[in-house]
Amino acid sequence: MSTNTLSSTADMLSEAERILRLNDKGGYTVPTHGLYPFQWNWDSCLTALGQASFDESRAWLEIETLVAHQWEDGMVPHIVFHVENDGYFPGPAVWGTGRHTPTSGITQPSVMGLVIEQLWRRGSKTEALKLRCRELVFAANRWHAWFYTCRDPRDTGLVALLHPWESGRDNSCDWDVALAAVQAENVTPYTRRDTQHVDASQRPTKFEYDRYIALVELFRACNWDNTKLHDASPFQVVDPGFNAILIHSDQALARLAADIGETAISEMAEARASRALQALDTLWSADKGQYIAYDRIKQKPVDSASIGGLLPVLVLPAGHPNQAHICKSIGRILDLAPYGVASHDPEDARFDSKRYWRGPSWLVVNYLLIKGLLQNEQPALAERIRQASLRSIAKSGCAEYYDPHTAEPLGGKTFTWTAAMVIEFLRDAR
Ligand code: SER
Repeated sequence: MSTNTLSSTADMLSEAERILRLNDKGGYTVPTHGLYPFQWNWDSCLTALGQASFDESRAWLEIETLVAHQWEDGMVPHIVFHVENDGYFPGPAVWGTGRHTPTSGITQPSVMGLVIEQLWRRGSKTEALKLRCRELVFAANRWHAWFYTCRDPRDTGLVALLHPWESGRDNSCDWDVALAAVQAENVTPYTRRDTQHVDASQRPTKFEYDRYIALVELFRACNWDNTKLHDASPFQVVDPGFNAILIHSDQALARLAADIGETAISEMAEARASRALQALDTLWSADKGQYIAYDRIKQKPVDSASIGGLLPVLVLPAGHPNQAHICKSIGRILDLAPYGVASHDPEDARFDSKRYWRGPSWLVVNYLLIKGLLQNEQPALAERIRQASLRSIAKSGCAEYYDPHTAEPLGGKTFTWTAAMVIEFLRDAR
């Protein structure tokens, strides 16, 4: 479908459903054909929210397929390579994880917990679905426990990312300093595929890619042993956004597990979440009016204001003093760039309105901010973000991301999780 055609709610909804079906490979959905031809972890989970609006069973299946590839230690990998496709780099041979169905060896933001709670609450709650839900509750609990065991070995209460890809916000300015310290002189020569699908100006740089691959090669040399990777990694960054998503998902898991009678899991999830929530406030920056990341290698806060530091709105308890500051920051960013909350502060010199996670607006993160703001009883600001997101869709269709100044569609087109978010934003209209 060409752009500029989605003028009505009905048009937006039918285009969104068309895209979800177009990218459906049976048991899993590709984020978009060409650029991302496999199953991605957080894409799939958020996609299930959209699928549930027309096929509840198919939505659960999306997550079941992902979880079928959970590692024995509890990690849920960030990519499952269900098929061979040399249109993507790095493929299974570079990862070398030795899995029967190849997977990557790192993880991604844990949205599964919050999604399965939504699917269950909104769904038909049949006995058969309850059994399926219970399996995913067990899987999510194992994954969340893995995070604190393997990514917080000193027991700080917060987990570290060992690779920028784990954040889902690959080239965020938040990782610049930590990534620059990764040695990449000996990286095996490679050919990128992403820039054959998308203009290079909208993708990470070669400097960043060299280091992404160097980290993969280092972890492969450690045989992907998660008891060793944290301490072996030259990149260990504690991201407020990633941790907030994990805490929010544990809170959701605690409620859901209690609902279906899994009291022990509910208590474990609740305990993890309340401990992490206390630790999260160590990442607050009064100067920036938001949370910021912490570099465990340099043992220093990261001087960078990205959307990751606004995501703790997902977990702030009612009346928390930082809430008003975060709302103010979100309002200021929307005043500067109106088509969705930009992924990086437009007032920072590094802001780049077209380059992936260094400025463009992404609907999935806008969705998470809306969710947090509604919990914090900030319906007006939540509605402002929803309308900003819908204006991007109306103007440019379901792109991977958007220039927050103009809504120009960027990255991959006919994008699955963007389509799922359209359905989410228009839920009341359906
Ligand atoms: N987002 C990464 C890519 O662009 C991998 O997760 O390939």
